[in-house]
Amino acid sequence: MSRNAEDLATLIRARAGGDPVRVGLVLGSGLGHLADAVEGVAIPYGDLPGFPGSAVSGHNPKLVIGQLEGTRVAVFGGRAHYYEQGQADAMRLPLEVLKALGGTRLILTNAAGSMRSDIGPGDLMLLSDHINFSGLNPLIGEPTDARFVPMTHAYDSSMRAALSGIADEEGIALPEGIYAWYSGPSFETPAEIRAIRTLGADAVGMSTVPEVILARFLDLRVAAISTITNMAAGMSDERISHEHTKAMAPVGAKKLEKLVRRYLTRD
Ligand code: HPA
Repeated sequence: MSRNAEDLATLIRARAGGDPVRVGLVLGSGLGHLADAVEGVAIPYGDLPGFPGSAVSGHNPKLVIGQLEGTRVAVFGGRAHYYEQGQADAMRLPLEVLKALGGTRLILTNAAGSMRSDIGPGDLMLLSDHINFSGLNPLIGEPTDARFVPMTHAYDSSMRAALSGIADEEGIALPEGIYAWYSGPSFETPAEIRAIRTLGADAVGMSTVPEVILARFLDLRVAAISTITNMAAGMSDERISHEHTKAMAPVGAKKLEKLVRRYLTRD
């Protein structure tokens, strides 16, 4: 754990209270409103030295610490992406802070394009695995042997089972699928989508994978859910744009919020 993360955890405890956090949540594009549902203390990233100054519209750069459905959570209302500053480890410090605050589990959310005809805009997908199509890695430069993180069971099976069970009970379709990380910020070409599809991916997006690697590095159990905002490039006639992502994300977000709330209630 870096010194900086311990210092930030001390600062956060002074403002938000010292009870340990249990679950961390990272909110993707258009999903930021979940941060407002938490009863607690909101700390702008700007007050947390070293936190990324996420400037992507549709992201809400604040950390909210408090109670959601009776569970103490840390909600990261803004994520930094590789494509902003060329840093694959942009979320390392926030995740180290989660760990320093006592967090043991992490739920990542994102907006993604679908490559499966049975998963469309407004649907959710639970990640079962990923393909790091970017070739980048947030642990490049990490000097310790801990960098050799096993990724065989990266997506936590008991968290996945709990989320799937809740989705069944709520009548929410939650197919499992494989997410490919494409660096962005330009969207993919249809040829790239055909390539990724052929390689076995079900959805594509510009985030999450580096955070999953970092989470496993930090020994956080992790689950990730995509909100499908569009069919991937070349798979439909609709025009892909960030405006469209932001407009569509709230459709799936309602279901996502239900899932996350029920998951936290059970805790
Ligand atoms: N590609 C990459 N990232 C995305 C997409 C997409 O089609 N939709 C939402 N985020």
